Amino acid sequence: MDRIELIATTTFGLEAVVKRELEDLNFEIKEVDNGKVTFYSDYNGIARANLWLRCADRVLWKFGEFKALSFDELFDKTMSLPWADYIPKDGKFTVLGQSVKSKLFSISDSQAIVKKAIVENMKNKYNISWFQETGAEYTVKVSLLNDIATLTLDTSGESLHKRGYRVNPVTAPIKETLAAALVKLSYWTPDRVLQDPFCGSGTILIEAAMIGRNIAPGLQRDFASKHWTFLGENTWRDEIREAYQSIDFDKIMDLRGSDIDESSVKAAIENADEAGVLDTIEFEHSNFKYAKYEGDYGVLITNPPYGSRLSHDEDLSQMYEEMKKIFRRLKTWSKYVITDEENLETHLKVNANRKRILFNGRIKTTYYQFYGPRPNEKGQN
Ligand SMILES: C[S@@+](CC[C@H](N)C(=O)[O-])C[C@H]1O[C@@H](n2cnc3c(N)ncnc32)[C@H](O)[C@@H]1O
Repeated sequence: MDRIELIATTTFGLEAVVKRELEDLNFEIKEVDNGKVTFYSDYNGIARANLWLRCADRVLWKFGEFKALSFDELFDKTMSLPWADYIPKDGKFTVLGQSVKSKLFSISDSQAIVKKAIVENMKNKYNISWFQETGAEYTVKVSLLNDIATLTLDTSGESLHKRGYRVNPVTAPIKETLAAALVKLSYWTPDRVLQDPFCGSGTILIEAAMIGRNIAPGLQRDFASKHWTFLGENTWRDEIREAYQSIDFDKIMDLRGSDIDESSVKAAIENADEAGVLDTIEFEHSNFKYAKYEGDYGVLITNPPYGSRLSHDEDLSQMYEEMKKIFRRLKTWSKYVITDEENLETHLKVNANRKRILFNGRIKTTYYQFYGPRPNEKGQN
């Protein structure tokens, strides 16, 4: 099987960003749906997609899809898929499930049936009746939607937002995948200043630095499929080597972060160091009111304290009053703010050029985009 279908799962609202990422990686898109982008790949693509996707949550291998109106049908059709060609004798295969608008509504029963069918399939090949499951992980998911069962194998393991550089956790950090999407949805380019005056653990700036230096976000972490023997030794090794070769180590950017909380600034410095980009980010311990905003045509991308997320003493309306003054001062800058505040435009007394609904974990947020003029041009961005 050299042409397979993979699914990149995404947070609601980021499907188009992930589609563009996949196209940039030269994958052929099959379809875009709520929360997922299906694309064609070969086996190497499993490693490439996992290593390079910045904004997707997981990469799943679509192993089979069929109609299932009874447990017998689910069992027989699952058993007929070539599981044993891919899962070794010692493979650990957990089965997860979900069911929406389907006759087979019991998730636990569907999971048990799928597990039993895979065991039967493997028994036929390996001629043993008991599987120890001590080896690599092959997490199977059975998703029933309108009586169609889709069976997937999770190639990622831990969610892709876990890059491996967050060594020092802080309260309410933004997810790395979302931070990368904020940068990609902005008009920032590495030759422009990027500033985050509520930087917390530095996620937005670290993701921008990794984009600017072309560092694959998955280089520092492990993946379930890295341990899959059928992929052969070379698949992951070649993709990782190529990813290292594409890094632009010398790219120096003007990235600036500050935060009122000293321990967050310390965490940001440690995280940036771990990600290998500390030399291109300047961190400062400061109230956003007193941060240095220098230069023209800068880009400000920030995630100020959420009313519903952080308990803090600061009066939010006072914060918006100060923010309004700073935004007015930074006439040539483009400003991007992600927050759960629904009336930000009223607080800042300026209309956003564009607004997008995005989810930070389970919190519904708005990404407000206020475009400044383009450097050397009269247009806006
Ligand atoms: C939602 S968090 C930002 C999280 C960050 N994006 C991350 O990934 O870790 C908001 C941050 O604003 C900081 N903060 C609150 N009031 C501030 C102020 N007046 N000036 C600067 N930073 C402030 C908090 O310390 C917190 O780190």
